[in-house]
Amino acid sequence: MLFDYCLGNPAFNIAEKNNIAGTGGNTTLYKTVARNDFKRVKDGGSLVLITLKGIIPDLIDGFFKDYQVDYIHLMDNIVVWPYNTCFFSVTKKPRTSPPKIIGGLAAKIYSHNADDCFPFVYYASSNAGLNHKFNSSKPNRVIRQLPGRGRDSFTYDYTDIEVDTDWKFAFYVLESKKSYTVTNEPVYGGTICYITTSTKEEAEKLRLFTQKNKVFAEYIRRMNIKGHAFGLRNIKKFDLNQIVTGEEIPIEWGITDQDLTDSIKFENDITEDRNRVKALGEVFTPTSLVDYILDHISQHDQNAFDGTKTFLDSMCGDGQFLLGVANRQFGNADNIYGIDLTPANVDAATRRTGSKNIVCGDSLSYEFSNIEKDTNPLFVFP
Ligand SMILES: C[S@@+](CC[C@H](N)C(=O)[O-])C[C@H]1O[C@@H](n2cnc3c(N)ncnc32)[C@H](O)[C@@H]1O
Repeated sequence: MLFDYCLGNPAFNIAEKNNIAGTGGNTTLYKTVARNDFKRVKDGGSLVLITLKGIIPDLIDGFFKDYQVDYIHLMDNIVVWPYNTCFFSVTKKPRTSPPKIIGGLAAKIYSHNADDCFPFVYYASSNAGLNHKFNSSKPNRVIRQLPGRGRDSFTYDYTDIEVDTDWKFAFYVLESKKSYTVTNEPVYGGTICYITTSTKEEAEKLRLFTQKNKVFAEYIRRMNIKGHAFGLRNIKKFDLNQIVTGEEIPIEWGITDQDLTDSIKFENDITEDRNRVKALGEVFTPTSLVDYILDHISQHDQNAFDGTKTFLDSMCGDGQFLLGVANRQFGNADNIYGIDLTPANVDAATRRTGSKNIVCGDSLSYEFSNIEKDTNPLFVFP
């Protein structure tokens, strides 16, 4: 069975049948869910999901590159929860126009396209990954310094690639502003980033900008980016000559007062259970955010909630999204489908929405041909 809409907020650590403790949240898991759900969308139908911002390059240039990404909302103008999330809509039809990046201030500053941004070098990987690429059998060029066993002791990894001696503004990803540096030396460190520039002055201007610019700081805050300078990775590049004190706002960004007005604070009616968050990735979506996302769906498709379209939330939790859809259809839930791994959630979602199509199962492997036999009365609240 295929659906007009697959929507929702997937678990960040997908649990599996025999393993409720998932493997920790990362973009790979979100990509897996997005791909899996997209297979369940009809031709011309849409996938609308909350996801991590880190998935954006994949949405645009990876798995979805041939499809119409309608929009990616950076969620930087709404305050709803502490997670680094966005939501997007992709329609199963050939791409005819570039994805629209929407949101507030960030929509003017952010670009997923490396060609629009400063040339950003990022050495990071797991130790095992780096050790595979760089090891002591290579000519002795140090690429990174690692903490050794004792205090003040170090070990090194080596590379045979040419280490960059251009001028650069360099920084450690997860550390404080103190580790910012302008240098033409090769840089050291486990997780190091730098932006090369033509001159030392340009590198200094980037450093000043990073430390002093209030609009950049606000962008970082609203985007929920961990590691201040790391935010330089996806900002649209600008002429560095205009930077003198660091406080100048790049004219290329076209920022207006309107862009800097306060974000809208959403009411959050959900109480999280930390144990369930950990074990199941169970974070129910606040009703205010569900409504906001459903409004975006309506703006895109005025007939979305006319009762003729089918909806699936493949990790439906207690039915926040499905209830939102049912309410917009004046309570009609015949076209509403859900899956969740835990019986209690299936019960709650069934009870709240009145849908008879909510099943207990593993979203990644569930086959909808089984839906009739699986809508087991056990899980239907009397
Ligand atoms: C982030 S919550 C979101 C719930 C709901 N979509 C919402 O927005 O409120 C994710 C849900 O996925 C469920 N879940 C985790 N792994 C699953 C899997 N493999 N198959 C089905 N459901 C799963 C959890 O039980 C949890 O209820």
